[in-house]
Amino acid sequence: MKTLNTLLCLVLVLTGLRAMAVESVSSPNGEITLTFDVRGSRPVYNVAFKGKTIVADSHLGLRLVRESSRGDFANFDTSTDASVAIRSLYDGFELARAERSSFDETWHPVWGEERDIRNHYNELAVTLKQPRQDRSIIVRFRVYDDGVGFRYEFPQQKYLNYFVIEEELTEFAMTGDHIAWWLGGDYDTQEYEYTRSRLSEISRLFDAAITPNSSQTQFSKTGVQTSLQMKTDDGIYINLHEAALIDYPCMSLNLNEKTLTFTSWLTPDAKGHKGYMQTPCHTPWRTIQIVDDAREILASRLILNLNEPCKIEDTSWIRPVKYVGVWWQMITGAGSWAYTDELPSVKLGQTDYRALRPNGKHSANNENVKRYIDFAARHGFDQVLVEGWNEGWEDWFGNSKDYVFDFVTPYPDFDIKALNDYAHERGVRLMMHHETSSSARNYERHLEQAYSLMNRYGYNSVKSGYVGDIIPRGEHHYGQWMVNHYQYALELAAKHHIMVNGHEAVRPTGLCRTWPNLIGNESARGTEYQAFGGTQPGHTAILPFTRLQGGPMDYTPGIVEMNLSTFAPDNKSRVLSTICGQLALYVTLYSPLQMAADLPENYEKRPDAFQFIKDVPVDWERSVYLEAEPMEYVTIARKQRGGDAWFVGNVTGKSAFDSTVRLDFLDKGRKYEATIYADAKDAHYLNNPHAYVISKKKVDAKTVLRLHSAAGGGYAISIKPIK
Ligand code: NOJ
Ligand code: CA
Repeated sequence: MKTLNTLLCLVLVLTGLRAMAVESVSSPNGEITLTFDVRGSRPVYNVAFKGKTIVADSHLGLRLVRESSRGDFANFDTSTDASVAIRSLYDGFELARAERSSFDETWHPVWGEERDIRNHYNELAVTLKQPRQDRSIIVRFRVYDDGVGFRYEFPQQKYLNYFVIEEELTEFAMTGDHIAWWLGGDYDTQEYEYTRSRLSEISRLFDAAITPNSSQTQFSKTGVQTSLQMKTDDGIYINLHEAALIDYPCMSLNLNEKTLTFTSWLTPDAKGHKGYMQTPCHTPWRTIQIVDDAREILASRLILNLNEPCKIEDTSWIRPVKYVGVWWQMITGAGSWAYTDELPSVKLGQTDYRALRPNGKHSANNENVKRYIDFAARHGFDQVLVEGWNEGWEDWFGNSKDYVFDFVTPYPDFDIKALNDYAHERGVRLMMHHETSSSARNYERHLEQAYSLMNRYGYNSVKSGYVGDIIPRGEHHYGQWMVNHYQYALELAAKHHIMVNGHEAVRPTGLCRTWPNLIGNESARGTEYQAFGGTQPGHTAILPFTRLQGGPMDYTPGIVEMNLSTFAPDNKSRVLSTICGQLALYVTLYSPLQMAADLPENYEKRPDAFQFIKDVPVDWERSVYLEAEPMEYVTIARKQRGGDAWFVGNVTGKSAFDSTVRLDFLDKGRKYEATIYADAKDAHYLNNPHAYVISKKKVDAKTVLRLHSAAGGGYAISIKPIK
């Protein structure tokens, strides 16, 4: 009996000890619970939502490159076992401390989908000790009502100063074979269409989902990019991404199709290493959004909230921008970036371009740019983007030339001073274009002069671009080296009061909260692909769930002539959308930077539809997410910032959609007039994209609108109070 009692006591003590190692923290509303444990000396977490396990037990940790770590440890013990121990930041751990705190604050973005953003979470920070290696790390978890963020922190310490990451080993164990909307793994681009499939089907569909290029071959066929949207069979929406990607490589996810567990997969550098760290430092946040209504993914501010507050003190120079541009002409092939078809052999700035034969297609010429400025002034646009204004476009990428552009030398038919003066006299600014052709070092060498030139002529925004393989060779668009490059370009731009819109840069992770001069990014498949062969409908109904979670996209919507050969005879591509589907994008794809991408002459042919693009604001007081299902439909209403008008947009995927919109977001008792831009009954993205009907209707907060959107179409509504 005595023995039994002793045994019982022992069991109780052990259970007690074990229970102490398990730590948990719940969201403010109590619906999401994160549990942390050190099991078999390995850190493990899981996440539950409304009592259901969403992320099953998943390991945490990193594996280091041996040489990078503690030298003296290696000296006193050179066994294989010691080598494993040196490289391991994934086992041999004890829980040293667990600290809890809460945070609740409302902040106000410089621009955004809404004026007030609430940042409300409960935090658990666990300090993990490796007694053998004499090292410790912290894992910090923040649990919100709409998901979880966590990151690794590496305090400065004797035996963890400089280290190199071989791989991060963060797991996300899914509990079912969910539906996923995914992009195949790639170290350089997200310019793909999404594939919708079960998780277990990813490897089978991988080859069809990507356009082969060199950086994909290094991926396993179960590698996917983030932000990754999933849906469980019982209707829970899970989204995996990251927040605040700074001084670290971009994370993709590799799926074990048997266990349905994702493991982080960082972008390597030229040596295959993944991250160079110097303590004190930390990783970006790994994010798991969990909701049971698709609209709540769109309403989630989790990624922004996990970023640091704004670091720019005076933000008065940062303004949303609606623009047109000398751009679609070149993208469709109707014009050219290059001045001549001859190949200038002399260095930039020293070539006498006047001695070369003009190709007659150079779009960035004085006369054409003036035409765009006049158009912008006439219709109330803020800026005119001009691409192909500078020397070097004759042979601009893919040929390993380090020195392609200097970003300061205009072609002879682009009078930089006169054109800027002409624009400013009409209340318009030119938008700068810096195509780097991915020669990032060359860009860094010229950046100070390039931004100074912009200051001198009154440019306040730049569209940058990174087409082609990165120079220096072996680096990737998504690697730590390039992540640092984009950050350098952005912070230097802030010093020059310049707003940045980076194309082909790493997909964003909410950094625009900290650096609101990052007013846009492309970093996904934008409208240009409609001119390169087409993009299927549905793409614009998945982007808000995925790419847009990290920040606004310069999608360049607003195409109203779908038959490109009408003005670019060699281009046989058709834009796979209806006109109203294009108008809707100004509301459904949030961005403080929106382009009216089509040619002035195409807008002039359809002034009534163009009116919506002229009216729609690019900055919002409040947003209401009305209807949403990934890749199928998105309906959003937004209230203009500093005004009383509302705008509603709906986009559909491949199937037609019947939308029911309750206007109960309008002020009670107030009368409004709605202008409805809807697909005509017989509209269709394939064979009847230009058919639309514009109607007006008196509405109030009690009105319920029932609207039909064509396949690949949508609708747009402006709602203005009647005085
Ligand atoms: C690709 C960009 O996405 C596009 O907008 C730009 O016109 C070209 N690169 C040239 O820089
Ligand atoms: Ca692009």
